[in-house]
Amino acid sequence: MSTSVISAESMPRTRAASRGAIELRSVSKNYGDVVAVDRLDLVVQPGEFVTLLGPSGSGKTTTMMMVAGFEEHSAGSVLIDGQPVDTLPPRERNLGVVFQNYALFPHMSALENVEFALRMRKIPKNERRKRAEEALDRVGLGKMGSRKPRQLSGGQQQRVALARALVFNPAALLLDEPMAALDKRLREQMQEEIKTLQKSLGISVLFVTHDQDEAMAMSDRIVVMKDGKIVQSGPPEEVYNQPLTDWVASFLGDTNLIPCTVLERNGAEALVDLGGLGTARVADRGVEGENYAISIRPEHLKFRSAGEGGNGGAATLVSSTNLGATVRHRLTAGGQELQLRELSPDSAGRPAPGGQGFVGWDSGRAQLLVLES
Ligand SMILES: Nc1ncnc2c1ncn2[C@@H]1O[C@H](COP(=O)(O)OP(=O)(O)OP(=O)(O)O)[C@@H](O)[C@H]1O
Ligand SMILES: [Mg+2]
Repeated sequence: MSTSVISAESMPRTRAASRGAIELRSVSKNYGDVVAVDRLDLVVQPGEFVTLLGPSGSGKTTTMMMVAGFEEHSAGSVLIDGQPVDTLPPRERNLGVVFQNYALFPHMSALENVEFALRMRKIPKNERRKRAEEALDRVGLGKMGSRKPRQLSGGQQQRVALARALVFNPAALLLDEPMAALDKRLREQMQEEIKTLQKSLGISVLFVTHDQDEAMAMSDRIVVMKDGKIVQSGPPEEVYNQPLTDWVASFLGDTNLIPCTVLERNGAEALVDLGGLGTARVADRGVEGENYAISIRPEHLKFRSAGEGGNGGAATLVSSTNLGATVRHRLTAGGQELQLRELSPDSAGRPAPGGQGFVGWDSGRAQLLVLES
């Protein structure tokens, strides 16, 4: 990737180490009978990049609006840097905000749009111009300050919105699907740039997306939301590789879910009966429910040669589809339909379509979870 157009050179370095903490304590929002957010507890540490990830209607935007102060919560408390802000108007919460519709003022130039954030905060006029120019420089738009929003591309407009959110040196940034309107390439470029900027400024970010790849790429921690509640929270790799329920596993990508009976548990591992696929030792995070399954990501399932042993069993290859970067195989094994994904289309041990072979997985790649559906 070429050098980032967003730089942190000119940002003030006076940020206190503890600045930018966001805390929600049992925060709820009801719209009539609709419980949009349900007793949410969440802490964003100073400098942390936390992503709310969830399907449409799960309460992500409502949560952001309550932190920003654009929506009043029905119960609970919001704290910034340890101070309750429940009665403070948005402007006094010292948060930089970029939401999906950039909401730049169409009649103002890019520079005036950025300056506006300073005007609202009563920064003296002579200082405003200089700081707005620096902020635009930082997002690579130093030469475009005089353009109106309609004379800028979607990505450039979004950078203006980012400059406007950063120009008053906020305690934290709230970004709600800021890249939803951009095409894939520009979106990936902006992801890297925002991440670089965030790291060099040490600013905390509360980010919203319903794109799991974006969440994986950007976050220190992913908070998975469903029906206004947090269903799992952790570092991206942990949420992806150790989902607690079949819903989380499926929401974060393709997976093989094999129903099982738990035979033994020791806290870290479980011995499970997979029916036609025999017994296996799998990773266990101590989940409790009525029904259980194991999850194995398609990229962790492998063709094996006869007699190799280990987890898994005999399989029939149903179909193979070349997806460009990877090949997806559909199989049946032990009465289960399975998906196996590999980089190379001609791995050793792979049977011909319709043919018999063996599939298996390395211990630790299978995770015990609660089967909710
Ligand atoms: N002003 C409102 N009046 C009534 N219901 C609302 C209002 N705003 C949001 N809701 C409801 O609250 C729930 C959560 O909405 P929210 O906008 O927070 O979802 P979201 O996770 O941001 O979804 P999306 O991914 O589609 O942006 C939804 O059921 C929605 O219909
Ligand atoms: Mg939303």
